[in-house]
Amino acid sequence: MQKEIISDKSPKHIAIIMDGNGRWATKRGLPRNLGHKAGIKAIERTIDAMIKFQIPVLSLFAFSTENWKRDKEEIDGIFSLVRDYLSENKDSFLKKGVRVVSMGDIKAFPDDLVSSLESVQEETKNNDKLTLNLALNYGGRADIIRAVNEVIKDKKTKIDEKDFEKYLYSYPLPDPDLVIRTSGEMRLSNFMMYQLAYCELYFTPVLWPDFGEKDLKKAIIDFQKRERRFGGNK
Ligand code: IPE
Ligand code: IPE
Ligand code: MG
Repeated sequence: MQKEIISDKSPKHIAIIMDGNGRWATKRGLPRNLGHKAGIKAIERTIDAMIKFQIPVLSLFAFSTENWKRDKEEIDGIFSLVRDYLSENKDSFLKKGVRVVSMGDIKAFPDDLVSSLESVQEETKNNDKLTLNLALNYGGRADIIRAVNEVIKDKKTKIDEKDFEKYLYSYPLPDPDLVIRTSGEMRLSNFMMYQLAYCELYFTPVLWPDFGEKDLKKAIIDFQKRERRFGGNK
């Protein structure tokens, strides 16, 4: 049985639907936002593991276009956690070689979060060990519809896949090879609907705040046992 990662068979881009923060907190009798806070620690562990395993792109679903349905208190808590995480980790991103990018309509966020995101993106833009792509106010359908509107703005009357992909938020990142969803839910919840067309799916019952290097390694080894066919027959 395969126990270690085979580096030349590794995914190039892993996308994670970080789910289960609320349940993690509730199980402990804590407010939901302490679950999100513990989720930040899991992000830090996952970034270190990605660098250790030499996988160059990590996309994290941090806030969906549907998450606005939650209580204002929870939403504000998530925003301030993300803002503090970005501003407190600038030096660490530079030291580790992490380049931060984002996808989603961040204009809807508070100014302080937008400016900390913009400044961390600018300051880390030359880093090349890991691209950390944060999905913030992101929805797969919104991504596609926005792309269509950009195509219309460019007055195109016909477009092929290769061209269309240039209009997506994630461009020029490669499509994810592996998507991981924690907390036992088996759905995509509107994440990267176009980009995941041929992605391998991995679901684990582990709640996001408990996720770490061991769990990432397990997912990668599972991925390496899959036979990807892309519609072919060998
Ligand atoms: C994921 O954890 C984080 C976000 C969606 C922002 P949840 O907050 O969805 O946790 P559960 O699903 O309620 O346990
Ligand atoms: C998906 O999790 C969104 C993020 C991880 C940011 P949700 O917890 O919002 O998804 P549903 O509502 O269970 O489908
Ligand atoms: Mg959830």
